[in-house]
Amino acid sequence: MRAQLLHPDNIDAVLASMTLEQKAQLLVGGGNDGFAGSGAMLGHQKRLVAGAAGITVEMAGLGIPSIVMADGPAGVHIDSVREGTDKTYFATGFPIGTALASTWNTELVEQVGQAIGNETREYGCDIILGPGMNLHRNPLCGRNFEYYSEDPILTGKIGAAMVRGIQSQGVGACPKHYAVNSQESDRTKVDERLSAKALRELYLRGFEIMVREAKPWTIMSSYNQINGEFVQQSYDALTTILRREWGFDGVVLTDWTGVRNTAAQVHAGNDLMMPGYPQQVQDIIAAVGNGTLAIADVDTCVRGMLELIVRTPRYKAYPYSDRPDLAAHAAITRQSATEGMVLLKNDGDTLPLRPEIRTVALFGVNSYDFASGGLGSGCVNTPYVVDMVAGLRNAGISTTPLITDIYQSYIPFATKKLRADKDPLMWFLDQGQPKLPEMEVSDRLIETEVTQADAAIITLGRQAGEGMDRTIEDDFNLTAGEHRLIRRVSEIFRREGKPVIVIINSGSVIETASWQAYADAILVAWQPGEEGGNSVADVLTGKVSPSGKLTMTWPVACSDHPSTRNFPQPMSLYDYKERANWGCPIEFVHYTNHAEGVYVGYRHFDTFDRPVAYPFGFGLSYTSFEYSRATAKLQGDEVVLSVTVRNAGERSGKEIVQVYMTIPGGAVAHELKAFAKTRELQPGESETLTMRVPVRLLASFDETDSRWLLPKGEYSFAFAASSRDIRLTQKVRLNQYTEPVHPVLLPEE
Ligand code: BGC
Repeated sequence: MRAQLLHPDNIDAVLASMTLEQKAQLLVGGGNDGFAGSGAMLGHQKRLVAGAAGITVEMAGLGIPSIVMADGPAGVHIDSVREGTDKTYFATGFPIGTALASTWNTELVEQVGQAIGNETREYGCDIILGPGMNLHRNPLCGRNFEYYSEDPILTGKIGAAMVRGIQSQGVGACPKHYAVNSQESDRTKVDERLSAKALRELYLRGFEIMVREAKPWTIMSSYNQINGEFVQQSYDALTTILRREWGFDGVVLTDWTGVRNTAAQVHAGNDLMMPGYPQQVQDIIAAVGNGTLAIADVDTCVRGMLELIVRTPRYKAYPYSDRPDLAAHAAITRQSATEGMVLLKNDGDTLPLRPEIRTVALFGVNSYDFASGGLGSGCVNTPYVVDMVAGLRNAGISTTPLITDIYQSYIPFATKKLRADKDPLMWFLDQGQPKLPEMEVSDRLIETEVTQADAAIITLGRQAGEGMDRTIEDDFNLTAGEHRLIRRVSEIFRREGKPVIVIINSGSVIETASWQAYADAILVAWQPGEEGGNSVADVLTGKVSPSGKLTMTWPVACSDHPSTRNFPQPMSLYDYKERANWGCPIEFVHYTNHAEGVYVGYRHFDTFDRPVAYPFGFGLSYTSFEYSRATAKLQGDEVVLSVTVRNAGERSGKEIVQVYMTIPGGAVAHELKAFAKTRELQPGESETLTMRVPVRLLASFDETDSRWLLPKGEYSFAFAASSRDIRLTQKVRLNQYTEPVHPVLLPEE
């Protein structure tokens, strides 16, 4: 058949005109045409948009352009400087996933998504590889910072908002990594062994909500196996569940994987192999030739690719500017970061800082080398990062000159040393801002500082990223040096009646129970994007009341999470360097048993009434809120929940209301089913929040009959300020609800 130029109305005709070679090429990323360095490694892809993660193959004769995919998720990951031009291509560094989710504000997340989508388009990319939506199964996962929460409903709702925002700009989102990719150790091979209940209720539910609500153009299949089957080759994961059960109608693309069983991938419904290797093209051709792969399966994937391509800016020849409005986006990142910060402690109303606090002594390297984001593909080449010195200065607070000078001279030295000592295997140190070792601070220096400063601020920094999980010692737990610093600063400043504030500049959870008593106030700033120091100062000065709440439990000890028992450890930097393969740095047993089942996060701590440092959903404000007039009613196939929130304090602020449902005789104490955030309420002002939850989202997974089941009965809905601060309760009678699903991806007996 004569070749036709691709058009949205002639996809079938174009498909019919393609040769098997062309079809195979379209399903394999642009690394497959022999062009050296064309996408096999992050940041090495130089065609079309330098530093983007990958491209697809161009077929000029068919009017099929290459489309471009860039990482994600905290902004557009591209090269900021390029050969042959003085022009720069910086992208806005937005808050990491955990920080955004901590806003519990879907409208704000959607707005951030719009800004990210806009930069994706204006920098000539078609798809952004995000959001990251894996569940925080354990605090040690090195990529938790890119993900949202230990709770699937929160993950799904925030993920859906992000996808809607991105796609409103005419580019595609690529939620990742579908599914059960909650550890980095052995990530390319590990078999995640888990019950159907844990799989359905926890690890798939967030993706399901997002797919149904936001219709992503693409989704990324993860490296790992689920119950013995590689996700990228799993018909059940990619077709039975994703497409048949949830109605996904976009393209599945692999995570940046080497060659697997390509024919099995295509049959499974994995439309695009990324970054793409010549062998994969040959594999498809050979498998069709010898009858092990049906041409109909190839055609299904090719049709999906053509449908995707005609939606893209590149197909539409969009004249991208390479000049997104970075100033406008900086304002969005500043506001969203501020709203995601979580105030854990505020004794004696230490915060907001009293007006007489004009000068502070800033301790901790991260005060001066503030981490805007995490390491690996998720890092962004930002135009700048506002550190704590600049952020405070912009807010009219100065820092003491002596210690500021000492740290500021130490930073370049420590950076140079870190880079010089770097093992070539530590590739991710070039992808983001690694954590610098802390500097020794003598008692003498602290004694000098206390005479100069009105308060002390200590910034505790943590860094984590792709390819490597965290350790308990010296990472989840503080180092001996950090402990000493907090204790000595606290003793010396408190002796003089001066407050001590700790800022946590980390993408994920750390231990707090052993040292929190030394701090008067503790603020979790996360890794809040390029405006970091300004966002922190907005909270410290009271320009904004903190209104973020934790999206994961902060345990007393890491081992309090049952999953810590089967989370791969240890993973010290030394072990990492010893291994040659970056994707699989340690010889593991190649499986992880989810022995804890659904007892992840608050589902464990609240069910068994175990102590925590800070519970799920917790966060203080500068004001206080009263809840009244809670109602819960069944309306059609939805439960409609409403509650009135009044600002009962003296400052303005926003409140996040969480609704937890109790299932009589259920496996867990309660589950988050809905949440909503008020607008900024002035003192005395009230707002009535209304939340609608489809009855199907109330059901639990019944493994015996492979179905979602909500038995007929009376259910209690708790309106709460955190999972452990229940304010009001309402009961509703509900009829039985069932929804059968396919008995697939089951564990071995
Ligand atoms: C990561 C993905 C990323 C891809 C492309 C992989 O190593 O797991 O999250 O999108 O690389 O850079």
